[in-house]
Amino acid sequence: MQIRTAITAALATTALVGTGLLVGSQVSLLPVAASTNAPPYDSLFRVLFSIGTILFLGILIVLAYSLIRFRRRPGELAEGLPIEGNLPLEIVWTAIPAVVILFVGIYSYDIYDRMGGMASLDHGAMQHQAMDHGSMNPTQMDPTQLADGIEASAERIWGGIGSTQAYVDQTGDGSEASAAVPPLPVEVTAMQFAFIFHYPDNDITSGELHVPLGQPVQLRMQARDVIHAFWVPEFRLKQDVIPGQPTVLSLTATRAGTYPVICAELCGPYHGGMRTSVVVHEPDDYLAWVTQNTPATTA
Ligand code: CUA
Repeated sequence: MQIRTAITAALATTALVGTGLLVGSQVSLLPVAASTNAPPYDSLFRVLFSIGTILFLGILIVLAYSLIRFRRRPGELAEGLPIEGNLPLEIVWTAIPAVVILFVGIYSYDIYDRMGGMASLDHGAMQHQAMDHGSMNPTQMDPTQLADGIEASAERIWGGIGSTQAYVDQTGDGSEASAAVPPLPVEVTAMQFAFIFHYPDNDITSGELHVPLGQPVQLRMQARDVIHAFWVPEFRLKQDVIPGQPTVLSLTATRAGTYPVICAELCGPYHGGMRTSVVVHEPDDYLAWVTQNTPATTA
């Protein structure tokens, strides 16, 4: 009887875990993947979805089984058996969630780090300091001065825009081909209720973000008024844009197309309308866009 119970439990657990992994690996709730951040993010999502499925089905099955198996039969009037305390059971149901949560926490941290989450946090803090040294208030200062400030601190941190090591560290994809391409700098200004993109290399200002396929892009972000958040679901990227604290976000687009840029932080009455697009061009198309939009005076 003991052995039969053990075998049944083992089979049920295997079936449950198998189902969870199957559902997790087949899930397709996310939008198309369009940046180098997407693969690690999506694998984390699949793992979380597998764990969620296992817990959901496991709890639901045990609940349904108990409801049927231990229901009150006709003629049964007595109270149920008074059971109090079960140490092995309590150890098991404390240990399993502890292990699961520890695993999810460490794995999530690793993915966040590989996506450059920890790197941009450091850079943001350092740039904040650099801004403070210049005693600059981004809401009042001359925008070119602000851009210079950001550039100067970026150079201090990375030893120049061409620094490939910084790019590798930030995205962690470690591919040498992309590391050889210097990142394209784009200044992003978030304000109530729009994102403005400025390309310092060509002095282009645009309400839409245009990026070339396969080239690392370095978004230098600042907010004019309140906290906004730059979110591109297809890139699996979301970054708060905070007044007085410029942040840097690196990304490499891997799929041509047009994707939404959404403000993901409640920033005022028209927060819901604060959205634009990012257009990922084939390299040639991107050059054509740059040529078309470069102001005549600098062309
Ligand atoms: Cu900007 Cu919401």
